[in-house]
Amino acid sequence: MIPDDVVEEVRARADIVGVIGEFVQLKKAGKEFRGLSPFKQEKTPSFYVIPAKAFFHDFSSGESGDVFSFLMKHQGMSFTDAVKYVGARSGVDVREVSGRGRDDPWRPYYEASAYANSFFQERLRESEGGEAARAYLEGRGIDGEAAERFGLGYAPDEWGAFREAASVHGLDEGMLLELGLLKKSEKGGDPYDAFRNRIVFPIESVAGRVLAFGGRLLGEAGRGSPKYLNSPESPIFSKGEVLYGLSWARNHIRRDASALVVEGFMDVVSLAAVEIRNVVAPLGTALTTMHARTLKRYTTQVRLLFDSDPAGLRATFRAADTLLGQGLHASVVTLPDGEDPDSVARAGGAEAVRGFVAQAVDVLDRKIAMLEERGWFDSIEKTRRALDRLLPTLRAARDPRLRDIYLTRVAERTGVRRETLVEEMRMASAPPRRSRAAPLRRRPAPRFHGLGEERTLLLVLIKDRDWIDKVVERIGPSDLEDGDYRVIFEELIADPELDTLPEGTPPETVRRFEQLMADPETLTSPEEVFGDAVGRIEGNRIDRRLTANAEELRRAGPEEQGRLVRDKQELMKERQALPVDWRRSGRMLSAIGRIPQEGEDGK
Ligand code: UTP
Ligand code: MN
Repeated sequence: MIPDDVVEEVRARADIVGVIGEFVQLKKAGKEFRGLSPFKQEKTPSFYVIPAKAFFHDFSSGESGDVFSFLMKHQGMSFTDAVKYVGARSGVDVREVSGRGRDDPWRPYYEASAYANSFFQERLRESEGGEAARAYLEGRGIDGEAAERFGLGYAPDEWGAFREAASVHGLDEGMLLELGLLKKSEKGGDPYDAFRNRIVFPIESVAGRVLAFGGRLLGEAGRGSPKYLNSPESPIFSKGEVLYGLSWARNHIRRDASALVVEGFMDVVSLAAVEIRNVVAPLGTALTTMHARTLKRYTTQVRLLFDSDPAGLRATFRAADTLLGQGLHASVVTLPDGEDPDSVARAGGAEAVRGFVAQAVDVLDRKIAMLEERGWFDSIEKTRRALDRLLPTLRAARDPRLRDIYLTRVAERTGVRRETLVEEMRMASAPPRRSRAAPLRRRPAPRFHGLGEERTLLLVLIKDRDWIDKVVERIGPSDLEDGDYRVIFEELIADPELDTLPEGTPPETVRRFEQLMADPETLTSPEEVFGDAVGRIEGNRIDRRLTANAEELRRAGPEEQGRLVRDKQELMKERQALPVDWRRSGRMLSAIGRIPQEGEDGK
């Protein structure tokens, strides 16, 4: 017997055109492939393979099915052999396990999870205790059928109800602790139920095995009882890999050739309740590369339907870059302020949701629109910096055609030539962002840790990410003199949610980033601190330009002097406009040992 998960994995990864193509000569016809029927003699081809649906159909013989049934019908293979055959061609290690599952060490974990699921489901159905839970679900538009379909349950408001039932059932307590179904208090004492007074959502593998749970508190969240509680990572559950709803959604995703990614459990369930079924959600984490790869098995079109507030938009752009990095296409659905998919579905039904989804905008266009709304193309200087926000998306796009379209779009919008964009993409290129340091840059990163304002600014940005949008209007990475801070600043602009630096970042930079992240200081008046730090950094920029200007003047021939003097007057005027204590004296500059290099600030 081959485990269900493995069969599903093979099916998902199979290149059905490639496999059938070994036996039937196929020709591309639009989105399908066509050939002569392998089951019946014919002169005009009526045998179709539809890769988007992982399906074949033979109109002359009436045969149809998936890649396995093709091999069974055409080659007379057994199901197991067909799975092995396709697995070998798809890079999936197919191993049989005996019927009793002796070879699957995690089998007890799956069994315990399945038991817990049935326990919770039963509590929901039970008339007394489940009453409030059923009323709650009904109030949220989830009827018995939808609850059944998603295996929803109810964890009673008791400390030991599940523990007791599990013990009668003979389940090992250590394992239940590992699965996060039971918890132990730090003070010792008996383990207690982790899920209490919650609607329970089973989290399934693609093949429909229960791996973990999410629980929605009935009533208001408070200290120590968050609104949603998820099972911890366990031997059978890894958050970064599992998408909630995929076991139900996968066939719909294939059929619709598109997936809708939402934020939470409730969104998935209430969209399903109005018959929108191609919906999945990450589990309270950002969308990972693993998630993107998983989705890619079913479709290349992903629509992101997150909150439309600034934090939601940041999460959206971040998710989109992850998807683009795996060669998927990402577009963004925008909902009215304060709405989520669940509320839209409740108020306006499927039609309302479909209306918004139909207006999904490609992520790059959405980003450009967002920058436009915020006035980023109002001046040349801002436009130049807007590029810093667009470059990560350009860089992320792995699909060469999409990347090409993106380049054209950005070139059109910013007026920067394509060649320059291509060059910029290479310069500041992630992945290895790390290598962007020395050789590509005109100036090596000087290291000195004395400038309080740069550290202060980063602290503000890290503690309150909303400042990131504002800071980029005034200063860019090149305005920071400290090499480590400059790298951190660049990373923050590229990814405002940043909580770890990319792999390969020099350890010293990482160390200082971690110091900033761990800084316990609370900023009492961030607005003031922010304004002060930015002002000082702007002052530093002017001073550096002045120093460079003086140096140039010293060496300039008569024909350049006029221009340099005019530059100097401009700079002096800017400097005069700054509060006195934001100006840095020339002596301080040399004390820091900073010798500006020619042309570094001349834009
Ligand atoms: P939301 O706070 O947006 O909740 O969290 P929601 O989905 O609208 O839920 P309802 O409508 O209030 O019931 C979105 C997702 O973030 C994760 C959960 O996965 C949730 O579905 N989350 C939220 C947590 O993990 N913990 C929390 O305390 C809150
Ligand atoms: Mn909600």
